[in-house]
Amino acid sequence: MSDRPAILVTGGAGFIGAHVCKALAAAGYRPVVYDNLSTGHAANVRWGPSVFADVRDRATLSDTILRHDIAAVLHFAASAYVGESVKDPLKYHDNNIGGMIGLLDACRQTGLRRVVLSSSCATYGHAGPGPIVESTPQVPINPYGFTKLACERMLLDHVAAHGMQPAILRYFNATGADPAGELGEAHSPETHLIPLALLAASRRGPPLAVFGTDYDTPDGSCIRDYIHVDDLARAHVLALGHLMQGGGPLTLNLGSGRGVSVLQVLDAIARVTRRVVPFRTQPRRAGDPATLVADPRLAAARLGFVPRFQDIDTIIAHAAPWFGHEVRHAATA
Ligand SMILES: NC(=O)c1ccc[n+]([C@@H]2O[C@H](COP(=O)([O-])OP(=O)(O)OC[C@H]3O[C@@H](n4cnc5c(N)ncnc54)[C@H](O)[C@@H]3O)[C@@H](O)[C@H]2O)c1
Repeated sequence: MSDRPAILVTGGAGFIGAHVCKALAAAGYRPVVYDNLSTGHAANVRWGPSVFADVRDRATLSDTILRHDIAAVLHFAASAYVGESVKDPLKYHDNNIGGMIGLLDACRQTGLRRVVLSSSCATYGHAGPGPIVESTPQVPINPYGFTKLACERMLLDHVAAHGMQPAILRYFNATGADPAGELGEAHSPETHLIPLALLAASRRGPPLAVFGTDYDTPDGSCIRDYIHVDDLARAHVLALGHLMQGGGPLTLNLGSGRGVSVLQVLDAIARVTRRVVPFRTQPRRAGDPATLVADPRLAAARLGFVPRFQDIDTIIAHAAPWFGHEVRHAATA
């Protein structure tokens, strides 16, 4: 057994979890991936041991925690497609809430107290045009957002009952890829804007559907806050370090604080790849707020976390090779 602290990473074979495992290993931890490979990839598991099992399997989860002498858990495992959650809410209730029950029960059985939870800006719903602070009322508008809010509340109930150390991290739109080129985004089916636009630009995917160009935003398209996955990974290492040093509970937004519209993303792709993104304009999609932008100041104050890759051209330059593009215009970081 290594003397590096072992960190359980549920969902560690997925997009964000795998990037976090790489960052954990670089920071001196031993990531232990726990993943059922429902949307993740075994090839993403490269920085420590793995257990391919389901978080709802409480016995295997408890056994893994004890066997690997786990010091903290980072809980990424979840179903994470907003549209699918609207069509099949029970899948989300079962996997996301059921998974959280499995995790909390295993924590209780084994005495594991440090939990970092992947939450989402989807818990805020229609929060309004301004930057969103953590105290903004959480009124999710789709089943996915509801399950993430439920997981937050369940964790806090267990903190009150069992004295756990929680870090709830609400990500905005995770994107980009490992700057060293070892990892990238490979969701199947892909539903995220930047991958879909890059696939359309390389003609590996259909023309991009742009849902709504009549929003009350400067160019009429939706505005989102894109956070580079490498920055997200660094924020997790900081949050974990805070808990390992006995720090108190955290609830933090993880975003860049900068809003970028859908049409601005398409312009950035054209600049970076020199390829135009073919797109079709569609009516607004139910449940899409016009603007979702984080107020990132609390994460800066509590963890000293400031994203390194704020420029959308840089984010796209890192993602583009995963979708068959040469980067023709290297953005400055
Ligand atoms: N991608 C984003 O922009 C974003 C934004 C906010 C929050 N999040 C949250 O971050 C987390 C990771 O998202 P991602 O984009 O990396 O998704 P992903 O689908 O790439 O990763 C999820 C991983 O969890 C695993 N998994 C799912 N259910 C499981 C179960 N029952 N037992 C064990 N493993 C299971 C999957 O196989 C996969 O490897 C999710 O909790 C998601 O809700 C993502």
